[in-house]
Amino acid sequence: MKFWVVSDEGLVGREMCDFLQREAVSFVGSNRHEVDILDEKGILAFFDKHKPTHIVNCAAVAIVDNCEAKDRERAFAVNAIGPQNLARLARIKGARLIHIGTDYVFDGREKRPYEEGDPVNPINEYGFSKLEGEKLLFKEYPEAVEVRTSSLYGLGKKGLIWYILQALQSEEIVQGITDQTSSPTNTKDLVEALFAVRDQSGIFHFANKGETSRFGLIEELFRLAKASEIELRCKKVVPIRQEESKRSAPRPVYSVLSSKKIAPYLRKEIRTWQEALADHFEAIAVIC
Ligand SMILES: NC(=O)c1ccc[n+]([C@@H]2O[C@H](COP(=O)([O-])OP(=O)(O)OC[C@H]3O[C@@H](n4cnc5c(N)ncnc54)[C@H](OP(=O)(O)O)[C@@H]3O)[C@@H](O)[C@H]2O)c1
Repeated sequence: MKFWVVSDEGLVGREMCDFLQREAVSFVGSNRHEVDILDEKGILAFFDKHKPTHIVNCAAVAIVDNCEAKDRERAFAVNAIGPQNLARLARIKGARLIHIGTDYVFDGREKRPYEEGDPVNPINEYGFSKLEGEKLLFKEYPEAVEVRTSSLYGLGKKGLIWYILQALQSEEIVQGITDQTSSPTNTKDLVEALFAVRDQSGIFHFANKGETSRFGLIEELFRLAKASEIELRCKKVVPIRQEESKRSAPRPVYSVLSSKKIAPYLRKEIRTWQEALADHFEAIAVIC
């Protein structure tokens, strides 16, 4: 078994490499400059040089607001055509392909956690591009596997939690959106799930257990931060609605994912989002 981590410098890519290293699984990584997933000759050459058995695609244009306008075309290319290119390569070479999807393929009108077979209906450009990516991927290579996940954070790169902590450290009043509920997910847990289904096919959902709004997430981080030595400027977290925020892309009001289907493949119980967040907080508190 040998993994190719496509885009090893992103949030998930870095975590995936750390995981494979800990597990003593042979792997090779590539960043965007070494291998652009839109360059078919380039991906073929890299494959032939390293001969991986498993390709995990961590490449994406994942900044949701930028996908609305500024990065719209690039997002479509990287999030839709890129997975198609990798799927063609994996099919021809007989390699396994593990792809990462998003909860933003759903419109958020559901009142219970989304299952894999639920109808999709994205409400922003990022969601459209990612949905197109899954369609093209499975059309090209039905044996591929995709894990849809949500609201990621991890040690790999500045992300959701890093920005919230920055705000708590620098602003007296921090706003939290109440009408956006999901399951915040630690990349440490996601990469274990990606590895667990490496030889499966089809779509799976994986997220940490439970659900919360962005407001709830910020409040929980505020609580953790107050209980630690971190110096904070924030006095209060105030609730706001999506339309009051400065973001350009709408998010589904509810995009909690049900991890029921993937659970039997995992080595351990899925952690609650609070447990996974506390673990992450402990790791970053040293840095803050
Ligand atoms: N972050 C979340 O909350 C979240 C939630 C649900 C699903 N996901 C999915 O999880 C996956 C990983 O996302 P992430 O959060 O780890 O994103 P990320 O941190 O932005 O990493 C994506 C990586 O892809 C690279 N990339 C961009 N264009 C490329 C190209 N043409 N060829 C090769 N590499 C390219 C980027 O390089 P540069 O930085 O140099 O451009 C970056 O290193 C994505 O499929 C995303 O849709 C993310």
